[in-house]
Amino acid sequence: MEVLLPPDDPAWRLDEPVYQPRYEAAAESRFSVSNGFLGVRGSREASRGPTWAAWLHNFSWSSWPRTFVAGLFDIPNFTPPVPALVPVADWMRVRIHLDGALLRLDHGTLLGHSRTLDYRRGLLLTDWRQRTVAGVVARVRTLRLVSQSDRAIGLQMLHFELESGAAAVTLEAAFDHSVSGLEAVRLDADMGLWRTEQTGQELAIACAADLARGGHDAPPGATAPLAWTWGWTGQAGGSATLRRMIGVARGASPQAAARAALDRAYGIGWRAVLDSHAAAWAQRWQAADVEITGDPAAQQALRFAVYHMTSAANPDDEHVSIGARALTGDGYLGHVFWDTESYLLPFYTVAWPAAARALLMYRYHSLDGARAKAAKLGWRGAMYAWESADTGAETTPDQVLDPLGRLVDVLTGKLEQHITADVSYAVWQYWQISGDAAFQRDAGAEILIETARFWASRALPGPDGLRHIRNVIGPDEFHEGVDDNAYTNRLAAWSLRRAVEAEAWLRQNWPDHAAALAARLQLSADESTVWAAAADAMAPGVTSASGILEQFEGYFALEDIDPTPFAARQGGIDMVLGHARVQGSQLLKQADVVALLGLLPDMLPPAAAKANFDYYAARCTHDSSLSRPMHALVAARLGETETALRFFREGAGTDLAATPEPAAAGGVRMATLGGLWQAAVFGFAGVSFNADGITLAPQLPPDWQTMTFRLHWQGRRVLVRLSQTGVQATLEHGDALTLRVGGAAVVLGGLGAVVAIPQTP
Ligand code: BGC
Repeated sequence: MEVLLPPDDPAWRLDEPVYQPRYEAAAESRFSVSNGFLGVRGSREASRGPTWAAWLHNFSWSSWPRTFVAGLFDIPNFTPPVPALVPVADWMRVRIHLDGALLRLDHGTLLGHSRTLDYRRGLLLTDWRQRTVAGVVARVRTLRLVSQSDRAIGLQMLHFELESGAAAVTLEAAFDHSVSGLEAVRLDADMGLWRTEQTGQELAIACAADLARGGHDAPPGATAPLAWTWGWTGQAGGSATLRRMIGVARGASPQAAARAALDRAYGIGWRAVLDSHAAAWAQRWQAADVEITGDPAAQQALRFAVYHMTSAANPDDEHVSIGARALTGDGYLGHVFWDTESYLLPFYTVAWPAAARALLMYRYHSLDGARAKAAKLGWRGAMYAWESADTGAETTPDQVLDPLGRLVDVLTGKLEQHITADVSYAVWQYWQISGDAAFQRDAGAEILIETARFWASRALPGPDGLRHIRNVIGPDEFHEGVDDNAYTNRLAAWSLRRAVEAEAWLRQNWPDHAAALAARLQLSADESTVWAAAADAMAPGVTSASGILEQFEGYFALEDIDPTPFAARQGGIDMVLGHARVQGSQLLKQADVVALLGLLPDMLPPAAAKANFDYYAARCTHDSSLSRPMHALVAARLGETETALRFFREGAGTDLAATPEPAAAGGVRMATLGGLWQAAVFGFAGVSFNADGITLAPQLPPDWQTMTFRLHWQGRRVLVRLSQTGVQATLEHGDALTLRVGGAAVVLGGLGAVVAIPQTP
């Protein structure tokens, strides 16, 4: 059973050394396995332990088992009625009885326990030993995966051993329907068909299980729909291995596709399912790993980030995107925010272009939803939903319950409009970095044009002759209904200019496509001049004498409150200070002007950028988990390496802290992970892209002896190895390109070409 052994190298695994019911739900988030189609939280399949960690006045979930299927949204019967990703039946449930008593995880009987993510193979492994009241010692080891090479397939293995004593054993492998958010339509012995209650989407899971005991397959004693039971008399030293595989499909009449997936899995056998999954993961790591020597915690943070970002994407499905918690928990109901474009897309663009393309195609396919939103609010073009699910329609609830049970208005769905520029930004970056002309021609240009139309209608001319974007919420959500938010205005102007370029590029290179698009969108010949004029006239906002951009009109006049007492809390600042006081203060929820510096690093000269960073960092509560990694990125680029490393470490603690905060139970914070990757690659390594190649401006933290990673740029793949004393780059795929380091520009010509550029530490 060597497949059940965790990897030796601690840098390639995540361990949970102690079982703590209080933090079980948070651990389940971080130990999730996913392939962008299926996601399974790291809940134990057997001996699950208590469901509650506390009760009476303070109910708190402990185990929160969930399997999610990307894109499977329903409008559940709750307030407010917005679409939510719904959990499907728990296909991994196992119950083991010894002499009739259920084997349960509890401290009294636990002899040893571990839960391990094997990053390299993309597996969750668990191992625990228990002594029952009757003195029997049992050991259970498990493995699970959802396949990275064939996303419709899941595999579970459970190896049961009696180490001492004898007992009558029953092992039941049954679906647990109690956690499902779907209605069962039909349950057969090895196939289930379900339907979402409101949206009528269908899901099928085909499943087969077998038990190997003493070198033979043991036939199940009793079977029911999706349930298999085996019984035997167990002796010390005896063992049995359960193997269960599933094939999953959603969409119209999905049974045949689910059956076909299961047949594929059984056709090659569990070992080949495992091997081809591990081989697909090996390829992903080859393309996307970031290796750090000298700082094990940073290494762990980056492997964890790359593991979850790799797990979250599916390059084969253009109709789903990545929710704020991906498929690792219920937080934010599976909704997609700007997190995907501004925090995650850079990773995919640079490390996995096919995944980036699919994520941007999701925005292309949701253009109709964005057009509908713009039209509804009286604007032109396309205005993306602040929160979107499967169709691209706005899914932000209008009201939510606050911790005191009061209904409070949520204004982000109407006012947090910068997401429309964030999508254009990601489209442009992808196009520039990948060189994917077909994407730009067939989808990217249309997104840029339609969003430019929105901004041109949205930024209204004022008596001062400037265009103003009034009544918005910037990334800092503490201030609602503000005018001329620097982030929104400047990114809108930037995307208007990119739309002008994209339209000209299309006309020049693909005149037929340009003509067809213009006809379809009723685009007049001179419309792009309107966008250029709107960009030129966009209100730049106030800049103080010391060069600080005012975050929005009137911000400088607000009360200056020290954020330090709030920096350690998660949420609830409103409850302490009151909503009006927070709104009337300079306290920030998260990076806003700092995020603008992160996206447009050349917007300000370095000294002005630093002044802005210092000013706004001093007012930020980091109440959002997006905030710290963005500060780390900007500080790293500014050469403030120590500050950057502090933000990087704090950001890494968001989902890896030994004592997780409550929100961790809702799933891993994907944007944080993308932000940490950006802080490392764009920040400490100083990667940027130009028309003819790649620039590196490394400023590694002193402990980082080496940093090694690969970059994908316009069909090339470059292996970069940084040390404290130099840069080495190898062209692994594609044609020559120019590499800039410090003042030097060298041509990395021909496959296998290596350059080494020394640097003074
Ligand atoms: C943040 C937003 C973010 C959302 C989802 C909010 O708390 O303020 O910026 O998009 O969470 O992660």
